[in-house]
Amino acid sequence: MSRILITGAGGGIARAILPVLHDLGHSMLLTTRSRTAALESFLKDAGIDAPIFQADLTVESDVEALFEWVAENGGLDVLVNNAGIAHAAAAWKLDAAEMERLFQINFFSAVRCSSKALPLLRAQGTGRIINVSSVVAHKPSFGTSGYAASKSALEGYARGIAIDVANKGITANTIAYGYMEAGMLYDVPEAMLEQIKTTIPKGSFGDASQIGRTIDYLINSPFTTGQTLHVNGGQWMP
Ligand SMILES: NC(=O)c1ccc[n+]([C@@H]2O[C@H](COP(=O)([O-])OP(=O)(O)OC[C@H]3O[C@@H](n4cnc5c(N)ncnc54)[C@H](OP(=O)(O)O)[C@@H]3O)[C@@H](O)[C@H]2O)c1
Repeated sequence: MSRILITGAGGGIARAILPVLHDLGHSMLLTTRSRTAALESFLKDAGIDAPIFQADLTVESDVEALFEWVAENGGLDVLVNNAGIAHAAAAWKLDAAEMERLFQINFFSAVRCSSKALPLLRAQGTGRIINVSSVVAHKPSFGTSGYAASKSALEGYARGIAIDVANKGITANTIAYGYMEAGMLYDVPEAMLEQIKTTIPKGSFGDASQIGRTIDYLINSPFTTGQTLHVNGGQWMP
């Protein structure tokens, strides 16, 4: 049983994995930026008892308050950096300011949380950092240069963390989701979704709940570190 802090827990994929992690016996601390009431109601209906902290992870003081709250709620063993946003813009329209705004959410939110979590995990002599990337970081489609860059950065960051804390009982890995049937997938226009589906050998979008099993695997795998696990129905292979 692990204490898991999941960011972006109001989102579609997180809601699919929370019941799985709960059934596997883990306890969870959750963050959302704006969906506290909806998440509370979801947890009540699902019979899951997990406290929620509202934080904008682009704001340093929010993240400091989040980790004070984590300490008050018993600490953590696992950090899942799941919060993120989709982004679409042709590369010639994407300037540095827009890229920086995107990185503040998709990359620096993970840096803010990981840099607060790692001293706690080092003191415990055990822990897991799990970043969330996308198949798009490996197989970009038109207009995804910003999103792909922000997710690629998370993968490199996890590999670097893995080296720094390998002798402290801590692993750092990334799960690169393929197109999962949840959350931001529904922001993609229907016609484009049909086209994307033709590029997935499995022939369907992924069941988001299975990500819960992938997280559990990483929790129980102390010798797996610095890796990117691809969960994408065969759409892209290393
Ligand atoms: N769905 C897919 O097919 C897919 C594929 C590959 C990768 N991913 C990745 O999987 C993760 C979850 O995606 P999803 O599909 O579940 O998307 P989603 O439903 O849009 O959820 C995203 C979550 O991130 C949170 N968030 C966004 N900006 C934030 C900020 N500034 N501070 C704090 N939290 C913030 C949102 O907060 P609120 O709770 O306030 O809305 C929400 O909980 C993302 O990192 C995404 O890039 C998804």
